Amino acid sequence: MPAQDSASHHHSNNNNNNNNNNTERRREYRNDHVSNSHHHQNNNNNNNNRRMNDRDDNSSSSSYNRESRGIQKQYKQQERYHSNNNNNNRYYNNNNNNNRNYHHRDSNNRNYNNRTFTPEEMYDQRKNQSREERNNSPIKPIKDFNNWLKGVLIYKYVPNECTVLDLCCGKGGDLFKFSFRNIKNYVGVDISFNSLVSLSERYNGGRDLKFPAKLIHADVGKVSIESALDSNVEFDTVSCQFAFHYFFQSKEHVKTALQNATSRLKKGGKFIVTTLDSNVLQSMLKKVEGKTLKNSVFQANFQCSDDKSFEEPFGNCYTFQLEDAVDPCPEYLVNPQIFIEMAKEFNLSLVENLNFYDFYEKYRNNRETENSRPRLNVRDMNEDFWTVVKLYTTFVFEKTENPISQLSKDSNSESSQQTVGGYKKILESDIIKL
Ligand SMILES: C[S@@+](CC[C@H](N)C(=O)[O-])C[C@H]1O[C@@H](n2cnc3c(N)ncnc32)[C@H](O)[C@@H]1O
Repeated sequence: MPAQDSASHHHSNNNNNNNNNNTERRREYRNDHVSNSHHHQNNNNNNNNRRMNDRDDNSSSSSYNRESRGIQKQYKQQERYHSNNNNNNRYYNNNNNNNRNYHHRDSNNRNYNNRTFTPEEMYDQRKNQSREERNNSPIKPIKDFNNWLKGVLIYKYVPNECTVLDLCCGKGGDLFKFSFRNIKNYVGVDISFNSLVSLSERYNGGRDLKFPAKLIHADVGKVSIESALDSNVEFDTVSCQFAFHYFFQSKEHVKTALQNATSRLKKGGKFIVTTLDSNVLQSMLKKVEGKTLKNSVFQANFQCSDDKSFEEPFGNCYTFQLEDAVDPCPEYLVNPQIFIEMAKEFNLSLVENLNFYDFYEKYRNNRETENSRPRLNVRDMNEDFWTVVKLYTTFVFEKTENPISQLSKDSNSESSQQTVGGYKKILESDIIKL
């Protein structure tokens, strides 16, 4: 089964703890796909498409002008490819039961015959959406809801003028929310290099994003980011949005992620997390026949025993897919008790753990966060969208101890004299690779 094959490929990659070299990972990925010329064609188109979309945002950029002719030609071809596919072969099909079913297609509407992606492959390939595409997203109400919820979390738990570590920062979807809190320093880490490049473009182009920022390309579940951090930097808030489920592959991944989250988090500082709600997923799974949960916009295929019990705390894999957001990719159930217990070992004490729907009930009319941005808009939510929203949960932890001071650790080193630094544009070559 292709889905299983690629999940085990994912496992074997991750088991190879010594292989933290990203170039190597990219090479492996290319070799895996060497026979799939269709894929290559689209991958090229995808990169080009990213550039084209960037052109929309910043049409004066000279690098775009240099390549524009060839790219425009390929872009037109791709548009034709898309419209053909859209007309002939829709993302969903009606089956005999009148249920809409997923075909395994990614964000560029490519069919991968049920193969899944690693998170790095998947997020590296996702194209950058233009404003128009974002506005036309079939799941826009879900995206709006999620942005409202993250806006509330950040407004509540990111103090004004503070320092922020954004683990699994993606394309920087939260930059403006942090900016709204007038943050004074930002560090973003992600496994997807292309996402970090998109983040840098957003940061460089954003008039309001005038805080110093550092970007680190690393697997947060496998390597320590310590060596890439300025020795005098400590964080008031660490954020990890929509990603912690990737770490529940193994205890080691969760430990490394928690170490990265806490090593520079100040006493009293918050660790804010959004992830899938394993209680909801498991209770939904018990109610269906088979091992698949789905509606018109999402699908989750579980690899579990027939009695659907999950006795092991780690490695409980399912392939998750959300239209216009997540292409088929392995994720792991986040066991909340284990997460809270392990967090305690890193001096994190639980402040709040609310399913997204309970969070909505608590904060939709809450005076304390009424000035958060963006505003809540649930007018266009439908039943399927609410079902998706309820698949997610929030965790907020507070750090109970100060970090071990890095300044005293290397008080003789030159780096201990480094300051946070002023605002400057981020070049691709500024992204630190670990
Ligand atoms: C759903 S996106 C969320 C992005 C961003 N936090 C947001 O809310 O807009 C998940 C992100 O986690 C990143 N990611 C997944 N596994 C990771 C890992 N092991 N280390 C670092 N980043 C990872 C992906 O590349 C992707 O950018």
